[in-house]
Amino acid sequence: AETDRENMLAVNDFAMRYFEKNLKETQEGRDIGLSYFRYRGISDAMVERFHLGYAVEGRDALFATALERGYSEKYLLSTGLCSRTDDGRVFDRFRGRVIYPILSLSGKVVAFGGRTLSKEKKIAKYVNSPESDIYLKRRELYGLYQAKQAIAKAQKCILVEGYMDVISMHQAGVCNVVASSGTALTVEQVRLIKRFTSNVTLIYDSDAAGIKASLRGIELLLQDGMDIKVLLLPEGDDPDSFAQSHSSTEVEEYIKAHETDFISFMARILMGEAADDPARRAQVITRIVKTIALIPDEITRRVYVQECSRLLFMDEDVLRREVGKYYNEYR
Ligand code: GTP
Ligand code: MN
Ligand code: MN
Ligand code: MN
Ligand code: MN
Repeated sequence: AETDRENMLAVNDFAMRYFEKNLKETQEGRDIGLSYFRYRGISDAMVERFHLGYAVEGRDALFATALERGYSEKYLLSTGLCSRTDDGRVFDRFRGRVIYPILSLSGKVVAFGGRTLSKEKKIAKYVNSPESDIYLKRRELYGLYQAKQAIAKAQKCILVEGYMDVISMHQAGVCNVVASSGTALTVEQVRLIKRFTSNVTLIYDSDAAGIKASLRGIELLLQDGMDIKVLLLPEGDDPDSFAQSHSSTEVEEYIKAHETDFISFMARILMGEAADDPARRAQVITRIVKTIALIPDEITRRVYVQECSRLLFMDEDVLRREVGKYYNEYR
């Protein structure tokens, strides 16, 4: 019911402020959480802007404090802030982690991400709130609330993988940035972006997983008629590490100089993999042709066929025929 949703949002809002207070006003929060953000190069202004926080160690620190303040167990459980063990004891989901609140488009706290500070491989790097009546992860984009004005103004949305990528880019003065937060991009997320702009630049981590995610993202975005560019960072970088090691001007200039259209990106990546094996090169061309066929607008398809022909030295008429074939197959 609507009152349940309101109560869940109220508990989350309390938790966000509690985590923020822990970060700044407790010894543990300052020594561990705040030092961690400093070590990552995050400024106080970004801590404020993204409402970053810290969940102290301890089984039920949040649970006990929230009950004291009159919040009910029901909503602490339904938001996933707390869980109950088989023997009936309640414990906090986030313990000894830095906290990234996830805000909805309208600025409501719908969920949290918590990052471990330990380098221990056995511990999950991130823990997230479970899905609930107020949180469907396929419908949220991390940072959208903070980025939406910049996206509308620039008429461009930069899509990155993670929390730290969004925050460090904002800190570098590039504010039209949001993250799908580790999950594959969804149609719902694309529709959210489309409310502000139809231009998207993908800047995923420059590793195998990031490239794979970019290729998947391209297909999804094209189907919705979005204009896509892709930027490949230097090997080993993600937007966070890149933004932290370059000046604001360098970041902006790098983006301007290195973002390419999706055909060039696919051609470079996939043709590189195929090397000079003719059969594999043919497969790559087919894959690119199938991708162009996803584009709803005919003129746009034509332009990309020309681009593809130029880049891959393939006869334009052949490409156009093939694109037409797959286009009709998809409808
Ligand atoms: P840092 O290591 O702090 O720089 O984070 P990162 O964002 O660079 O991490 P990574 O590239 O590994 O992951 C990208 C995004 O995927 C993260 O920001 C999270 O949203 C999500 N993610 C990564 N690891 C996990 C995990 O273990 N569990 C969950 N639920 N999400 C994860
Ligand atoms: Mn705040
Ligand atoms: Mn990664
Ligand atoms: Mn990363
Ligand atoms: Mn990172």
